[in-house]
Amino acid sequence: MRPMQESDMDEVMAVELLAYEFPWTLGNMRDCLKSKYCCCVYVQSSGIIGYAIMSVAVGEANILNLCIHPDMQGQGLGRRLMEHMLMLAHQQQVDTVFLELRASNRAASTLYDAMGFNEMGVRQNYYPAKKGREDAILMAKIL
Ligand SMILES: CC(C)(COP(=O)(O)OP(=O)(O)OC[C@H]1O[C@@H](n2cnc3c(N)ncnc32)[C@H](O)[C@@H]1OP(=O)(O)O)[C@@H](O)C(=O)NCCC(=O)NCCS
Repeated sequence: MRPMQESDMDEVMAVELLAYEFPWTLGNMRDCLKSKYCCCVYVQSSGIIGYAIMSVAVGEANILNLCIHPDMQGQGLGRRLMEHMLMLAHQQQVDTVFLELRASNRAASTLYDAMGFNEMGVRQNYYPAKKGREDAILMAKIL
């Protein structure tokens, strides 16, 4: 795992478009990099197989995106990437890490539960969905 660079953008966006039904735009991704968010890529010999983006401010972090290429999911890589982000947060004196996920996202929900995140609340109708809108679950983990 290493910091994301501007030259990674095409590969990162290719994974983003495959992994999400409602993906971020290239502009969203670039803004995070320009804003000096904590942006990491997970690289294997085949290239970029995952990435994560986290904002950090005054003792709090927000994981804004965490993604593994669909062909590589279910092998423990998402867990490893999350462990890496938590380690980076800890190094920056973060005490609480927040994230939001779609209510229907079983894989992410299982991962976050297993990693000790607790449900803090629900943002109703937060995400666009195929049919109308979908709730976001707000989760937090104390480091
Ligand atoms: C969520 C995501 C990052 C998980 O990465 P992954 O590499 O597939 O996950 P891992 O193999 O590390 O598995 C982590 C846990 O999730 C569970 N899991 C993985 N895929 C699952 C699925 N499809 N359904 C249910 N649970 C699943 C595993 O069983 C494992 O739990 P365990 O440790 O208790 O056995 C990955 O599915 C992904 O990139 N999804 C698309 C993008 C996304 O939704 N990101 C999250 C945004 S909030």
